[in-house]
Amino acid sequence: MTKMPSSLVAANLGLTASLCASDVRAHVDWLATALGGPEQVTAITPDARSLGERIGATPPRAVFIDFSGEQAGQGARLAAHLRREWPDLLLIGIGHASETQATLTALRAGVDDFVDLGGPPGEVLQMLLTLGNRRQEVRPVPRGRTLALLGARGGLGVSTLACNLAALLQSGRGAGMPRQGVALLDMGLPARDGLLYLDMQSGFSFVDGVHNLRRLDQTLLQTALAQHASGTAVLPLPADLTQLRAVSHADSVALIQRMTEFFDLQIADLGGLSNLDFVAQVAQAADEVWVVCDQSIGAIVSTAQLLSELRDRQVPVANFSLVLNRLEKGVGLGSEDIARQLGLRASAHPLPARGAALLGAAAQGRLLAETDRSDPYVQALAALARTLGQGQSHDAGAASSGPPTSAPWSQRMNGWLAPWKGRK
Ligand SMILES: Nc1ncnc2c1ncn2[C@@H]1O[C@H](COP(=O)(O)OP(=O)(O)O)[C@@H](O)[C@H]1O
Ligand SMILES: [Mg+2]
Repeated sequence: MTKMPSSLVAANLGLTASLCASDVRAHVDWLATALGGPEQVTAITPDARSLGERIGATPPRAVFIDFSGEQAGQGARLAAHLRREWPDLLLIGIGHASETQATLTALRAGVDDFVDLGGPPGEVLQMLLTLGNRRQEVRPVPRGRTLALLGARGGLGVSTLACNLAALLQSGRGAGMPRQGVALLDMGLPARDGLLYLDMQSGFSFVDGVHNLRRLDQTLLQTALAQHASGTAVLPLPADLTQLRAVSHADSVALIQRMTEFFDLQIADLGGLSNLDFVAQVAQAADEVWVVCDQSIGAIVSTAQLLSELRDRQVPVANFSLVLNRLEKGVGLGSEDIARQLGLRASAHPLPARGAALLGAAAQGRLLAETDRSDPYVQALAALARTLGQGQSHDAGAASSGPPTSAPWSQRMNGWLAPWKGRK
């Protein structure tokens, strides 16, 4: 068989980095060379906790565990633990084939394969590719997408957007009928506004979901999750927010990632959350992030502050889209202008100010997307929904958000944002 060059194989794997749990730096370096570069491998302390947190935050392509020398016992415990907690994970032992006992220990602990540190490095990528393919054949897990909605403070319209979008998509008329449906993670603050807007109750919360992470399956989700009339499944924050202290960020993100196995689309409402470490982790785990903001000075400055905090946490905010909400035309401050100032992409579909219509629907305990599909807010939302999954929800030429910024506006906006610019 002709071997593929490393770079080609890496591209084929669509590689996210692998983790290497080892006490020996030279072994990590050997693996990095074998896999095509240092960016392909992250060294990690071989303990269950560090690994669990890391895997929860960003699922690696594979986890390599060192079984060489004195690390064999620790490697075995780690492999057994990971196999139990993350059954889908690709686990590969590394060590010296000359240490036959170590190889046996690794295989008994449940690794998928073993790499000999004395063997040819060129075969490791090929092995990863073969194992990955085989895994997919055995266990095809179709993964849904996660859309995270951010709002720098309460009141910007995130929950309204999240609920209407969920209902629109679930009912199949927005942007194509989803396969397994839409889940709304109602995690913004003020808490449980999504439930309120959907006129629903739920006894099962996000914290319950985290506690049941290991036994999550279709049946549990179907019975436990509250369902809106549209069919949207809703997972809210607990009524008692102090319960949140009992769950780690890593497990929370792990729950969101696990749920992608059961839903086509998860819409995570993170509007108004002040726990930026958590927001950063969810945003990084999401396939797409929309930042909701309106034209008010307060909203724009808060958003700049939020983005600056996220940049400080290495979150690639330049890929996020700005969804301008409550748009008032003719005020001389459009979607493109605000997006440019904030360093975001501008969505081509700002959502118009429709306070009276939204209130009218709410007064009936319903969503505007249910009561009036021809309303401009719902129409704009449907157009926005059609951009989902295209990677880029912007269209530089198509913004119809009013006249370009006049010079005085631009200067004043620069002034408001000055403290949040230049901070990386
Ligand atoms: N496009 C809009 N036009 C007018 N009012 C809006 C719009 N979007 C949201 N609102 C109103 O703003 C208020 C706050 O919205 P909400 O979705 O709860 O914000 P958040 O979740 O960001 O705190 C609600 O009364 C809602 O009806
Ligand atoms: Mg909200």
